[in-house]
Amino acid sequence: MKPPRRLVILGAGGHARETAWTAELCGFDVVGFVVTALDRLGPYDSKARVLGDYAWLEHNRTEYDALALGIGTPAARLRVGRELAARFPDIDWPVLVHPTAIIDRGTANLGPGAYVGAGVVATVDIRLDAFALANFGCTLGHDAHLGAGVVVNPGANISGGVVIEEGAQVGTGAKTLQYLRIGAGASVGAGAVVTRDVAPGAVVVGVPARQKTA
Ligand SMILES: CC(C)(COP(=O)(O)OP(=O)(O)OC[C@H]1O[C@@H](n2cnc3c(N)ncnc32)[C@H](O)[C@@H]1OP(=O)(O)O)[C@@H](O)C(=O)NCCC(=O)NCCS
Repeated sequence: MKPPRRLVILGAGGHARETAWTAELCGFDVVGFVVTALDRLGPYDSKARVLGDYAWLEHNRTEYDALALGIGTPAARLRVGRELAARFPDIDWPVLVHPTAIIDRGTANLGPGAYVGAGVVATVDIRLDAFALANFGCTLGHDAHLGAGVVVNPGANISGGVVIEEGAQVGTGAKTLQYLRIGAGASVGAGAVVTRDVAPGAVVVGVPARQKTA
């Protein structure tokens, strides 16, 4: 049996702690959390397992084999993931799939740093590009495609054939009808029902979802 790989998680908040839970269940040895600024730890940040700021990664390169994003927003996932992947080109970004998630691994295409949370139900020919996140309890129908850094929040339902472009986010409990496209950087509000394509960068809310006016 191979020894567990040592994993450092970026971020220390709620999603970072959930990521640690998933990683441990996947057999990783979680070394701890690394944060951007030690003096800015929030109320939901782990206090016990913070190793240091990003300089720790530089100075302790022999202490870990892999990195995972513990960050729940698309822009930050993309920024931190890309920055550190460029800085440490030899580091592994494992795909993390919680053991209670259901997904056809035979037909799935999961990029580096992709994450599938507890209780996700994803069927066939699912694609998650680098650093995409399908958070706990969401569903992904056949051929759903989450672009790089996309975040689908808990309990959202993504129907078959939906394409969510890079850096977009779908709020908790939202639903998207089949074969729609959600443009890059768009945001779908919690509880919305998306019945038409969403333009890149748009923020849509409500049932049916309509562009939010400022
Ligand atoms: C849609 C969303 C992106 C808008 O964020 P925002 O631009 O910061 O919006 P604000 O909080 O300033 O709210 C602006 C207005 O939109 C309304 N609004 C916000 N989110 C809404 C939603 N999901 N559905 C309907 N109306 C919403 C607010 O009530 C407010 O209305 P008001 O001006 O009449 O008071 C955000 O509210 C949202 O739903 N994000 C998803 C979060 C999520 O899924 N979290 C789970 C994390 S695990």
